[in-house]
Amino acid sequence: MSISTIAQSISESATLKLNETAAILRAKGEPLIHLGGGEPKTKAPIDAILSAAANLTSGETRYAPADGTIEMKQAIIRYTLDFYKRKVEPKNIIASSGAKQAIMVALQTILNLQDEVIFPAPYWVSYPEMVKLCGGVPVPVYPEDGTFIPTIDDIKQNVTSLTKCVIINSPNNPSGAVYPEKFIKEIVQFCEKKGIYLIMDDIYHRLLFDRKKPINCYDYRTDDSESSKLIVINGVSKQYAMTGYRIGWAIASKKLIEVMTNIQAHQTSGPSIVMQKAAAGAINGVQSCVESLRATLENNRNILMDQLNGFEGVRATAPDGTFYCFADFSHYEKDSTKLANFLLEKVRVAVMPGVEFGIEGFVRISTCGSVKDITEGIERIKWALDSNSPNELYIGDRKLVRDWV
Ligand SMILES: Cc1ncc(COP(=O)(O)O)c(C=O)c1O
Repeated sequence: MSISTIAQSISESATLKLNETAAILRAKGEPLIHLGGGEPKTKAPIDAILSAAANLTSGETRYAPADGTIEMKQAIIRYTLDFYKRKVEPKNIIASSGAKQAIMVALQTILNLQDEVIFPAPYWVSYPEMVKLCGGVPVPVYPEDGTFIPTIDDIKQNVTSLTKCVIINSPNNPSGAVYPEKFIKEIVQFCEKKGIYLIMDDIYHRLLFDRKKPINCYDYRTDDSESSKLIVINGVSKQYAMTGYRIGWAIASKKLIEVMTNIQAHQTSGPSIVMQKAAAGAINGVQSCVESLRATLENNRNILMDQLNGFEGVRATAPDGTFYCFADFSHYEKDSTKLANFLLEKVRVAVMPGVEFGIEGFVRISTCGSVKDITEGIERIKWALDSNSPNELYIGDRKLVRDWV
């Protein structure tokens, strides 16, 4: 079989694979605790469900415009005004089948073969693969001070004549870190000055802790013209617990949106009209669900940090937002894939190996589950890794016996 060179370079999505393994284990009745996922367990907002249901019962479930329905765009205009204090026009917007597709068509629109795309590590698993799919070269940047917070110098040191784009994701998946306002200001202005595209992946921007406020990249833009190379990404998946609805969007210059629309039109056509109805319903509906999710995540973060702080051998920085904590387990095992497989096999706890996010020795632990999931999951991990723990552990009425050192 002949497979293209680009296709051969693309790895399986580690996060989707873990979800699949978790589902298989659960279906077999295994007492799995899934601390690897990136989706809230709450239901989608009632306004989203009712809007989708109304569309389904109307029978008007047809093709949608390639760049999104008028109603969806109106909702995004409202969202951008509410959260970015910025009035955009319908032609500055494309609605896509998830933020993932919005980022993908943006990259397809701007990248030529061998163009380089810079993003700080740790990074979302899909960035390198998306860049490669477009024939580009991913350039992960490792903050020099060893933290999860990049500086403008870290970025500058990696810029070459081939740099086409920088992707910034803050709050960050997987670290939960919120990059300082100073850095956002500097990166916006640096990219403008250099004529480099800047993709701000703001998918977690409302899921912040400790009264932190979202940072608005538009506050630092000096080029407000239609030649601006700033692309802002958002979506309903995370903030409204609507991962399965698959609606995200991009805001950019009219010219970029026009080309992105041409690509999307041939790729998938417009996103599902039912799901656009749902997404517009969520954005226009009662917003207390977002605050309720945010507060739950903050509480879960506190519980997780209490658990991890009492775990000798583990080092973890408290996340400032998102669903994730990126913890250093290298004291126990430097190979994070080996560690994640071990935990799944021995104590049925799923975590994501850090290597998938560009850093070995770490694992990503999700706070999307219940408090019981978090406390019991960490207890099981502790039992498996700490050689001073008792020889036996009960999971329900199943007795586990330590047969490793
Ligand atoms: C940083 C980041 N960007 C984008 C996405 C994609 O979101 P969507 O479900 O809207 O495609 C994710 C999903 O995990 C993510 O973590």
